[in-house]
Amino acid sequence: MTLFSFEFFPRMETERFILRKSEERDITDLYELYSDQEVIKYTLLQPFLDHNEARQEMNWYHEIFEQQIGIRWLIEDKATGKMIGTCGFLHYVKEYARSEIGYDLVPAYWRRGIMSEVAAPIIAFGFDTLQLHCIEAKVDVVNAASIGLLSKLGFKQDRELIEYEFEAGQFIELLHFAMLRRDYRRLWLP
Ligand SMILES: CC(C)(COP(=O)(O)OP(=O)(O)OC[C@H]1O[C@@H](n2cnc3c(N)ncnc32)[C@H](O)[C@@H]1OP(=O)(O)O)[C@@H](O)C(=O)NCCC(=O)NCCS
Repeated sequence: MTLFSFEFFPRMETERFILRKSEERDITDLYELYSDQEVIKYTLLQPFLDHNEARQEMNWYHEIFEQQIGIRWLIEDKATGKMIGTCGFLHYVKEYARSEIGYDLVPAYWRRGIMSEVAAPIIAFGFDTLQLHCIEAKVDVVNAASIGLLSKLGFKQDRELIEYEFEAGQFIELLHFAMLRRDYRRLWLP
């Protein structure tokens, strides 16, 4: 099987959502997402102050795809056409068959099983199409929602990253989660 070529952005669908490439029409929704303090609370981002920062974020999604080091899908609600969040891979290293998953949703959509639904085909894409050996995730120790999501998806916490990230003037701990190809086969494949 040939490895994913990064020639075309891989659009996907779930029952309720379209997973697609970001476009100029998404700038307002991206701004709404990343100007929300609740969304960026456990990340290194500062709340976006204008639409230009949202455009830079979109450009970064395009750049990581062109450089073949990441894929960020936008989550479009089929019912309304609204972009309600993002999910995807970063720090993809082809040689090591490894990447890191990241995700976020507008708070009004939290706790409705949306990221569980959306992450499933993205994880499958990682193992089946990018042919990853391992998907990693790094999470703030107090981010209960993200820790709960990863656990539900079948990720295992394998270590704590001590004083790993510099946030609000101090070094903080992160939890490192991983899903190996064999975990994926055992948990996700029939
Ligand atoms: C993390 C995030 C994407 C979760 O998305 P979501 O669509 O609300 O998650 P789901 O509804 O699919 O929940 C999956 C599981 O996670 C856990 N979970 C979700 N929200 C939780 C919360 N607030 N507290 C505790 N557990 C929670 C539950 O176990 C849940 O399963 P259950 O509903 O069957 O009990 C969302 O909270 C978010 O966007 N947070 C801000 C951005 C962020 O922190 N990104 C991650 C950085 S590492």
